[in-house]
Amino acid sequence: MTALPRPRVDTRASAQTRADAPTRADAHVPQPRRARFDWADVPLHWIPGDAHSTHVINSLHLFLPAGERWFVKVMKQALPLVTDDLLHDQVRAFMSQEGIHATAHGTAAAHLRAHGLDHAGYDRRLEVVFDRLLGDHRLPGRRMQRAWLDVRLAIIAAIEHYTAVLGDWILRADALDEAGADPVMLDLLRWHGAEEVEHRSVAFDLYQHLNGSWALRASVAQVVFPVLLALMLDGTRVLMGEDADAPRFRPIGGYVAGMDKGRLPKLLWLAMQGPRYVRPGYHPSLEGDMQRALDYIARSPSHIRAL
Ligand SMILES: [Fe+2]
Ligand SMILES: [Fe+2]
Repeated sequence: MTALPRPRVDTRASAQTRADAPTRADAHVPQPRRARFDWADVPLHWIPGDAHSTHVINSLHLFLPAGERWFVKVMKQALPLVTDDLLHDQVRAFMSQEGIHATAHGTAAAHLRAHGLDHAGYDRRLEVVFDRLLGDHRLPGRRMQRAWLDVRLAIIAAIEHYTAVLGDWILRADALDEAGADPVMLDLLRWHGAEEVEHRSVAFDLYQHLNGSWALRASVAQVVFPVLLALMLDGTRVLMGEDADAPRFRPIGGYVAGMDKGRLPKLLWLAMQGPRYVRPGYHPSLEGDMQRALDYIARSPSHIRAL
């Protein structure tokens, strides 16, 4: 494997080129990167003997592509409103990273279909959520249109809180290695998780730049966690139902069994993320470990293969 130079975190606001840029907690500009995944030898139950934990995590392959493409659509509308050069660069890089993530998880979803798991009905429910409910609506007047954009940016910022904390979690989930989890699947999750840590602050800073209302941020966050949980549960149910070799779907018991083995995040820890996010002084720059994330990307086999 080729050894790449170890990237360093640059949290300075690029003082030489951006002397007028405001000081921000996360001045790092994310870097869009390609990654190539070869699914040919990846077994359906890529956590050996643990179909439930496998499909809980597989549910990400179903809803992340739709969600991340929706992020990009919404941010395209917000980008012309950004008056800060550094933030503008960060948002563009964020959009590019999310587009690449969506494509990568789409290949994993195709791998599930190749194993005979049909999730077309679930995909149609996602279309209702992202294209109809959260899509563009004909709203009267610019103020209403702008308010709807701000609500959607608040939703993205809240989701990105969870992707950052889960990204950091997967980078530290040694129990998955110990369980013999497939290295290609783990690499997809860790490459993506690392980039979620890398761009942890962008959606939040964009929301703060264009609106910044704590009340809106806090109220939106109350809805985001239950919806993410419902999407994950529904996706797991669909995949378990389609998998002839999986045991009966047990939403709580199955999850807790994987959680107790360290293969899934602790539910209590996940539930605590909401209250942490709505603290008035919260900033995502305190989430995860940026250097650990960049170190992982530098040695990610799928990223190295795509160079
Ligand atoms: Fe992503
Ligand atoms: Fe993200």
